[in-house]
Amino acid sequence: MDKLLITGGQPLAGEVRISGAKNAALPIMCAALLTAEPLRLDNVPRLMDVRTMAKILALMGVEVGAQENGRLELRAREIKDPTAGYDLVKTMRASVLVLGPLLARCGRAKVSLPGGCGIGARPVDQHIKGLQAMGARIEIEHGYMNASVGRLKGARIVMDLVTVTGTENLMLAAALAEGTTVLENAAREPEVVDLANCLAAMGAKIEGAGTDTLRIEGVRSLAGAAHRVMPDRIETGTYLSAVAAAGGKVRLSGTAAGTLGATLEKLREAGAKLAVAGDAITIEMAGRARSVSLTTAPYPGFATDMQAQFMALDCVASGTGQITETIFENRFMHALELQRLGADISIHDRTAVVKGVERLQGAKVMATDLRASASLVVAGLVAQGETLIDRIYHLDRGYEALEHKLSGLGAKIARVR
Ligand code: EPU
Repeated sequence: MDKLLITGGQPLAGEVRISGAKNAALPIMCAALLTAEPLRLDNVPRLMDVRTMAKILALMGVEVGAQENGRLELRAREIKDPTAGYDLVKTMRASVLVLGPLLARCGRAKVSLPGGCGIGARPVDQHIKGLQAMGARIEIEHGYMNASVGRLKGARIVMDLVTVTGTENLMLAAALAEGTTVLENAAREPEVVDLANCLAAMGAKIEGAGTDTLRIEGVRSLAGAAHRVMPDRIETGTYLSAVAAAGGKVRLSGTAAGTLGATLEKLREAGAKLAVAGDAITIEMAGRARSVSLTTAPYPGFATDMQAQFMALDCVASGTGQITETIFENRFMHALELQRLGADISIHDRTAVVKGVERLQGAKVMATDLRASASLVVAGLVAQGETLIDRIYHLDRGYEALEHKLSGLGAKIARVR
C-alpha cells in the first residue's frame, strides 16, 4: 500500500493551483440524475471520491464521459436501476446524495445505509425525515433504505440541526417536487450555494441559497446545463496552513477567498501576511506562527474540515491554543498521531489543548481520515527528519495531486511503497 515520505524542514515557495471542490462536485454530479439531458461540468477535481460517485451513477445507467482537464459530462438519459449498493456507499458517505434525486426522478430508490465512520456516528435521519415530509415512504430493510413515492410534494421542513449533505439532498429532491418546499435551518455552506447555482442553470427555482432558509418551487422537468465547480476552500485552507506552519511565501491561484473568511482570519491571527487579488491568495509567513484558539461551527464559522490542519499549525506555534470541535464527536484521531511526532496535546472532552513545541521530529504515522491525513502532511513538512504517512488512500479521496503540488513548492515529498 502506498505511503507518503516527507523530509521536513524546508520553507515553501512558489505557486500552486487549487482544484475544484470535492464537496461541491459530489452533490452537483447527483444533479445529473434529475434530467435526461447532459450536464457538462468543469473544474471537476481528479479524486477517488469523484470516481466513486461516477461509478455509482454509471451502475444506475448514467452515461459518464471521460474526465479530461477538469471536464466531465454526465447524462442520465434513462435510469435503469435506482440503486446504490453497500460496496460503494460504505467507501463514501456522500453517496447518500443520490437518494433525493432518484426519488424525485424515478419515484423509487434503494440506497445502502452509510453506516459508521471514523469521525463520528453521522446518522442520516434528517435526510430521511425531510423526504418523508415530502411524502416518501422509506423503510430500512437489510441495511438498505427502500424509498418510494408517487411524486414528491413540497413541504415546510425545519431541520433539527445544520447538515450540509442533508440540505443538499432535500434541495435536489425539492427541485422536481410538486409545489413549494421551504427548508429552515438549512446549511449555508458555499457548496450548497454552488449546487443551487447549478440547479438554477438547469431550470430549478431556488431562493435563499447561502441563508438558513431555502425556498424551492418544484418544476415538472429540468434541462441540461453547463456548470463550473467552485474552488475547493478546504484544499486552499490546507495549503495556507502548510505555509503558515513551514514558513515561506506561496501564491495560490484558482481560489475563492470570499468562501474562506474564518480560515483567513485565523491565519492572520497566527501572524501570516495575506494578500488577495482576483482569484489568487498570496501568503507569506516569516518566523514562527503564534498559537490560535478556535471552535468549529457550521459556515460561516470555522470549518470542521480545517480543524486538524490548524491543530498541526498550533503544534509548532508559540503559545498554547485551544481547539474545540462541535460538529463531529470523534474528530481528534490526528492528535494521537501528532503526538508521535512530538506534539504536546491534551484532550479534554471536545477540546484539545495544544502547547506549541520548538520542533517536531519525523516518525511513522497513520492517516485515519481525509483531513487527519492532511494535518499529518502539514506536520511532516515542519518536522525534522523523515515522516512516513501510512494509509494515504484517505488523502487520495480529497486532495488532487498533493505530492506534485507540494514538490512544486519545494517540499521533499514522495509516494513510496
Ligand atoms: N447529522 C445528523 N443527522 C443527519 C445528518 C447529519 O445527526 O441526518 C449530524 C452529523 O452526525 C454531524 C452534523 O450533523 O454531527 C453535521 O454533519 P453534516 O451532515 O453537515 O455532514 P455531512 O453533510 O455528512 C459534509 C462534508 C464533510 C464536512 C461536513 C461538515 C460533504 C460530502 N461532506 O458532511 O466533509 O466535514 O459536511 O461541514 O460535503 C471531508 O471533506 O473531509 C468531510 C468530512
